[in-house]
Amino acid sequence: MNDLNFRAPKGTRDILWPDSARHQFLTEVFAEVVSEAGYTQVITPMFEHVEVFQRLGGATDVVRKEMYDFQDKGGRHLALRPEQTASVVRAFNEHRPAIPWKAWYTGPNFRYERSQKGRFRQFSQVGIEVLGVEDPYLDVEVMALAWRFYERLGLRQVKLELNSLGSKEDRNKFIDALQQHFTQSLSELSEESQKTLEVNPLRVLDSNREQDAHLISAAPSMLDFLSEDSEEHFTQVQEGLNSLNIPFSVNPKLVRGLDYYIRTAFEFISESFDAAQNAIGGGGRYDGLVEDLGGPSTPGVGFAIGTDRTLLACDAEKTFQMPEAAIEVFVVDVTGGMEALKLTTELRNAGFKTDRAWDNRSMKAQMKLADRSGALFAIIVGEEEVASDTVILRDLRESTGQSKITRETIQEDLRKRLR
Ligand code: HAM
Repeated sequence: MNDLNFRAPKGTRDILWPDSARHQFLTEVFAEVVSEAGYTQVITPMFEHVEVFQRLGGATDVVRKEMYDFQDKGGRHLALRPEQTASVVRAFNEHRPAIPWKAWYTGPNFRYERSQKGRFRQFSQVGIEVLGVEDPYLDVEVMALAWRFYERLGLRQVKLELNSLGSKEDRNKFIDALQQHFTQSLSELSEESQKTLEVNPLRVLDSNREQDAHLISAAPSMLDFLSEDSEEHFTQVQEGLNSLNIPFSVNPKLVRGLDYYIRTAFEFISESFDAAQNAIGGGGRYDGLVEDLGGPSTPGVGFAIGTDRTLLACDAEKTFQMPEAAIEVFVVDVTGGMEALKLTTELRNAGFKTDRAWDNRSMKAQMKLADRSGALFAIIVGEEEVASDTVILRDLRESTGQSKITRETIQEDLRKRLR
């Protein structure tokens, strides 16, 4: 058999320690930030009936080209989730929790994209969604929470880009104007953008091909198509951000890759790496989606942050580095292994992160493993220690630090030194 079959599929990765610990720690920091603001966790299935995601917009790449959909053995047409907003809205409609419903989530998503640095076919997100509130200051709260999260990670080079896509009617007028603008000079557009224009005129604005640049810069601006209400909403959002001293820039070309947005749309860009994949988070308002998925008319707003990309930004800014050592104490037992069995159990029950060696290795081999484990202390047990009910406690960071202590005081001793 071809040994390629034994590698992780294209666009997926194994995440080993210490990266796995950073992923987990990042989620914990996120949970802390949003719990402080009253959000509770929702866990939805990783796959749904394909129709749930088709509501994201038949013209979007996410739905048209990138969906991992399949038939299960019962003949159901299902899809692995490409994002979680649609799932959260589906769950809202199914359970009708009291509004405002403020939910946060984490977990993997799947998109059949061209994989490259920072762009995977399985990637993880953390995010929030709020259902049932129209208030523009909620849009501000939502962005402020993402901002606070980045700050807690120690990121400093994050830029917030903001736009308003207006109401559905405003947006349709804008799309018509765009269509007209690009169609007038169709032959000047790149071939790819001509195809995009046919299915999704808004996304032409996303093209970064040089050939398209001048037509894009001369294109009509969304901001000129905002109705009075939408403009008022947008102004309040900006005033709210200003009042919290959150810096942002208005980018009228920001259209996002999903179709459900109305009014507020935003993206967080990391300036610390210049990959094409520097959007580390994004979101906005999606007031029509609950209805589109069969629920009562209910406004919604939220964002999702890409865990993998955010960690890349942390690498680039040299922040949120290594997690603390996984192991605090390593038990070295040269009497056969039973003492280590008892001691590790005792210490773990008392809350110390404890490991040991196996297979009755030599003292030297066990000490090597203790060093490699990153443990701060070794507890060494030989025949003499068993006979005298003692152990040797060695500070692995200092080659000289070693003392004989009674078995009874191990925990107390460790606590004093570790905590
Ligand atoms: P999105 O912009 O498609 O929005 O994704 C949000 C974030 O997920 C991106 O900014 C990026 O960091 C990360 N991401 C997306 N695709 C990939 C990929 N292939 N590989 C690595 N990271 C990726 C949404 O998903 C919306 N559900 C956000 C939202 C929530 N809007 C309202 N509520």
